[in-house]
Amino acid sequence: MSEHQPPVTPSGGPVSNRIDTTRPHPARVYDWFLGGKDNYPVDEELGRQIAGLSPDTKRIARHNRWFMHRAMRWLAGEAGIRQFLDIGSGIPTEPNLHQIVQGTAPDARVVYVDNDPIVLAHAEALLSGTADGVTAYLDADVREPERILRLAADVIDFDRPVALSLIALLHFVGDGDGAGRSEGAYALVERLVERLPAGSFLVLSQLTGDFDPESVEKGVASYAAGGVTLVPRSRRGVGRFFDGLEVVEPGVVQVVDWHPELSLGDLPVETRPVPIYGAVARKP
Ligand SMILES: C[S@@+](CC[C@H](N)C(=O)[O-])C[C@H]1O[C@@H](n2cnc3c(N)ncnc32)[C@H](O)[C@@H]1O
Repeated sequence: MSEHQPPVTPSGGPVSNRIDTTRPHPARVYDWFLGGKDNYPVDEELGRQIAGLSPDTKRIARHNRWFMHRAMRWLAGEAGIRQFLDIGSGIPTEPNLHQIVQGTAPDARVVYVDNDPIVLAHAEALLSGTADGVTAYLDADVREPERILRLAADVIDFDRPVALSLIALLHFVGDGDGAGRSEGAYALVERLVERLPAGSFLVLSQLTGDFDPESVEKGVASYAAGGVTLVPRSRRGVGRFFDGLEVVEPGVVQVVDWHPELSLGDLPVETRPVPIYGAVARKP
């Protein structure tokens, strides 16, 4: 990949033919939660079911996004990171990750990765980075870590620190399907982190059932009915992703509690738990 090169397109035919509007897709349901326009009736239907279980759903999705903003500002600023590998990047929603980090460090290099054809269809919006930086897009699945690392190496120098971000991604990845094709989420994260040099960071967020297990279980069933695997994890389960890393203060917390002081605007005050954990950790 070179600067502003078009997205890497696999041999799957035209993107429009790959967009399945007969079943919900995580990227499009999330877009509906965020008030976007890149979703279909089937996505909205699932979104409404979930919002019916938890009236705070739309705000919770925004809290996840605001966590991403704060974490990226911290990584590009305080931590001085200049290379970002963002897997499960989602449909573009401004400000996008590259706009945030290049706002602090115009020379930042960003590789976005997602497996949904609708994100590929919108990838151009993710490629409008600064003149000094690089922004690229890979159409790939997190369950192919070697392919991602190989292709990303055109933009990212894996001898220098990298921030690997897996924001609201891993609850779509099970603990291993036993079918040989797919490793579990923990093994995938381990393989990705293994490739990063010391001084790199892992940042992730993940849905939990710790606060309202009943509603979250119903949500899991609704996603399953739409053919989507959703795997909530406990705080300890989320902490396991960071084994061997130095978790930055305040640790694995509800996303709303991760450095709220880094927010550029006022965050809504929550009286109920926000069931998404987030954390940032450094590879020693
Ligand atoms: C909830 S969205 C999160 C978007 C963005 N990271 C954020 O937090 O604002 C999850 C994204 O992960 C993507 N995704 C789900 N499973 C994936 C997989 N196996 N490989 C790559 N991306 C995946 C979806 O297509 C979707 O865009």
